Formats: sequence, C-alpha cells, structure tokens
Amino acid sequence: MKDNNHPSHYLFTLLPSRRCKFFSLTETPEDYTLIVDEEGFKELPESEHLSVAEATWLALNVVSGGGSTTNSQPIGVTKIAKSVIAPLADHNISVFMLSTYQTDFILVRERDLPMVMHTLSSEFTLMRVVNGETVAANSLGVTNGFVKPKLVPRPIIHPLSSPSNMFCVTSLDPDTLPSVATLLMDVMFYSGGIKEPGASSEDTGHIRFFSFSLIEGYISLVMDEQTTQRFPNNVLFTSASGELWKMVRIGGQPLGFDECGIVAQISEPLATADIPAYYISTFKFDHALVPEENIQSVIGALRTNESAGQ
Ligand code: ARG
Repeated sequence: MKDNNHPSHYLFTLLPSRRCKFFSLTETPEDYTLIVDEEGFKELPESEHLSVAEATWLALNVVSGGGSTTNSQPIGVTKIAKSVIAPLADHNISVFMLSTYQTDFILVRERDLPMVMHTLSSEFTLMRVVNGETVAANSLGVTNGFVKPKLVPRPIIHPLSSPSNMFCVTSLDPDTLPSVATLLMDVMFYSGGIKEPGASSEDTGHIRFFSFSLIEGYISLVMDEQTTQRFPNNVLFTSASGELWKMVRIGGQPLGFDECGIVAQISEPLATADIPAYYISTFKFDHALVPEENIQSVIGALRTNESAGQ
C-alpha cells in the first residue's frame, strides 16, 4: 500500500470524516495499514495500491463493569491475555489487535462471531453497538464440542526482532487536532520518504512506526520518542508515569489474516510475568510494546518459547 509518489490528493481523503467513527492509520516500513469502519471505507479512493483484507471484521473491546476493578490492573493486552486472547486462540479464532491509548480492540471476523460468543460467554456479557445503541448480543447456541485446554506453553512460531527506538503511547485533545494536522501529515506521509543524506536508515535498527487512531472521538498516537519532540509542548498527553516502550516485532514472512494464536503466544507469557503491553497488528506484521526496562527479560522469555527449528 505504500505509494512512494505520495499523491497529495490522497491526504484529504485519508483524513477521518465525521461519519467515520473508527479510523486507524499505522505506518510501518512496509506499508500503511488502515482500519476503518464501513463509512470510512466508502470514502477511500479506489486505488490499485490498496490491498484489502477479505471479510468484515468486528471490533471488540473489553469494558470492565463497576465494582471489581483494582488499582493494580495491568495495562493493555496483558489484562485480557488470559481471559480473552488465549481462549479465542484455543478455539482457532483469528484476531487482529489494535491497542490504543484508551483501550485495546480485538478485531474478529464477523463470521466468527457466533464462535467468539460461545467462547467468551462464560466470562463476559457480549453487547453489540448497533447504530450507536448498545444491545445484548444473543448467543446463537453454537458449540465446538470440547476444546482441550492448552497446558503446554505456546511455542513462538514467527521470528522476533526489536528495533532500537523507544516509543510513547500518547493522546491529544480532539480540539487541538486542527493545530497539529499539518505536522501529523508531515510525520505520517513525508518524513520517512525523505532520506537524510548519508543516512542509511535500515541498518541502524531504527524503525519507522507511527500509529494514529481516531475512534469514537478519542485520539491515540503511538510514535517514537524523537517524533514526540516535533510536537508543541503540552499538546500530547501520556500516562502519568510517562513510560517509554520498546517494540517487539513479530514476523519474518507476512503473517496474513488466517493464522490464529500469534497474539496469544506473545501476550500470555507477558501476562504470566505481569508485564504490561500494547499490541498493534498491521497488514503484514504484529508489534508488541513493552516497558523499556522489561525488554531484555521479555526477549529472553519469548526466546525460550521459540519453537525449535524455525
Ligand atoms: N491473526 C493473528 C492471531 O490470531 C494476529 C494477526 C497477524 N496478522 C497480521 N497481518 N498482523 O494471533
């Protein structure tokens, strides 16, 4: 999907419109990954450069009900690794993850919804938002017979790498969006293409990665530390502790959309070690973000799970 000529008329159509309630754009060295709702999709330009993953996906997110939340809730996918991600993987349901500053979306294929509901119904009440209204999603009585519990650790199937940059997970007030729109477009579409003279960007271990999402009015930005410095002071907000995150990139060959269990392979050991993590899937690869101080132990732990001979 990367278009090196960057035709400027794309920029305008790529900005989320008022009708589009779910818009996410992530830049990686390979391409730009867009996740949009149907309204947003209708507004995309026809282009031979656009590859579309087949099937319609539904975005689930876990909202904890009142009462039982504790202060020590782990952040991001760590919180849902054992209750949501692992059971879905055990039922062979392929997911696509999008962590944001505010929450973690688990995208599942619409046709897998009955199985998703069957899998999660013992622990969760599933609600569906239809035209802005929340309605109970009825279980369709699907059963997959017995699923054997996974007692063995899941081997990591795909190669891992960890770029050298450190990342920030940030947000900004939607009211300030117009004031940084030009900067955002510059960061997303123009900065990478321009190679600094003499700099060979690939071999330094530094990766281009920028993720912007505007979902239900909430903005989330994931970018490296250097890029945050291009923003005016006090525009971006980070969590109080202002952590820096390192990335684990998953995949040698493009991961595709059918394989299941990749997110589980990574997030389950992190949950066991109680390490917070964000997780962003893109068209070709997956990306986990872990606190900078944990990166060595994370890599170490995941490496011991790497399946032999791969
Ligand atoms: N489907 C994978 C899983 O269930 C995650 C997504 C991988 N594919 C991708 N294009 N990023 O674990």
